[in-house]
Amino acid sequence: MPHSDDLLWGALGDISRFAALLTMAELGVADHLARGPLSTPELARRAGAHAPSLRRVLRELAAMDLVRAVEADAETDAETDAETDAEADAYELTERGGALRSDAPGFVRSSIRMLGEEGFWYAMRMLPDTVRTGRSAFIEQYGPLYDYLARKPESSTLFDDYMAARAVPFTEGLSERYAFPATGTMVDVAGGKGHILATVLRANPGLRGVLMDLEHVVDHARRALAEEGLAERTEVVAGDFFAAVPSGGDVYLLASILHNWDDEDCVKILTNVRTAMNPGGRVLILEVVLPDDERPHLGKDIDLRMLAIFNGGAERSREEYAALLGRAGLAMSDVVELGSGASLIEARQR
Ligand SMILES: C[S@@+](CC[C@H](N)C(=O)[O-])C[C@H]1O[C@@H](n2cnc3c(N)ncnc32)[C@H](O)[C@@H]1O
Repeated sequence: MPHSDDLLWGALGDISRFAALLTMAELGVADHLARGPLSTPELARRAGAHAPSLRRVLRELAAMDLVRAVEADAETDAETDAETDAEADAYELTERGGALRSDAPGFVRSSIRMLGEEGFWYAMRMLPDTVRTGRSAFIEQYGPLYDYLARKPESSTLFDDYMAARAVPFTEGLSERYAFPATGTMVDVAGGKGHILATVLRANPGLRGVLMDLEHVVDHARRALAEEGLAERTEVVAGDFFAAVPSGGDVYLLASILHNWDDEDCVKILTNVRTAMNPGGRVLILEVVLPDDERPHLGKDIDLRMLAIFNGGAERSREEYAALLGRAGLAMSDVVELGSGASLIEARQR
């Protein structure tokens, strides 16, 4: 590989940078530095880390503008009760690094931890095997993703936060780009912790919401919607969308759902939605629709994650979504481009 090929060598460096980010997120470095600079030994003591190793990670993080070296002066040491180390370096948090605090908006820390989570990391490492066999190495090892998350509450919370983080660029200005009905009920099918439902309800005060998800997710959704002050306008129910979805809705949102499943499963979910919806209702599919050219696109990145984690899950083109809808007795009526490569596909009963 020629050394002049920045993209190739950059991709190799990305692994070290991601590992440094993961270390920062797991050790809570941003939280420890939130109240001011600390010497490396003191930071290591608070984070439960080995100081000489942490120092090397901090050097990479400084190169990424997440922390910044500062003079380890007497004041810093006195404030922090650091070990007396005249040579100790010290670091402070930069503005960018502040995004990794656990109380920062956007769930950046959770998202990094989720992508470095045991199963997620394994899935990407094993992509070559998945491609050899055509079967997800993740599923062979851990079983289906949502069963895995049901067994691991901490990972499940990280996953819900990660989904909320991912949805932010997709849903910014959503209600300006798409005209939701002024009144009625929106059912967020497998809505995670309710972040998208909350965005839509805040912008459309005449709408009510129903959120459905798996048993191990709904408490997280109830808490998050209550924190948004939306408990009165929402109902949260546990269920399995392969069995049925809540009936009587006017709008059914399926955000980042169909890309987890193969065509047969997608048709089952869409058919359940069609039979549950009010006459004149609509289905909204929020997904990153694959372009039909060779340019870099978020959909191509996410598609490899789907390949690694699900058997049959995939990003799809607009034509492929139209075909799935048709098989479920629905017809595509509109496609609205959202931010960051995502689209909102509207469908109605045929
Ligand atoms: C990729 S997440 C999408 C969450 C949310 N809609 C969003 O866009 O951020 C998929 C969701 O489907 C839920 N889910 C998986 N299988 C399900 C099933 N059989 N019935 C209901 N929900 C399910 C998961 O718990 C998870 O919240």
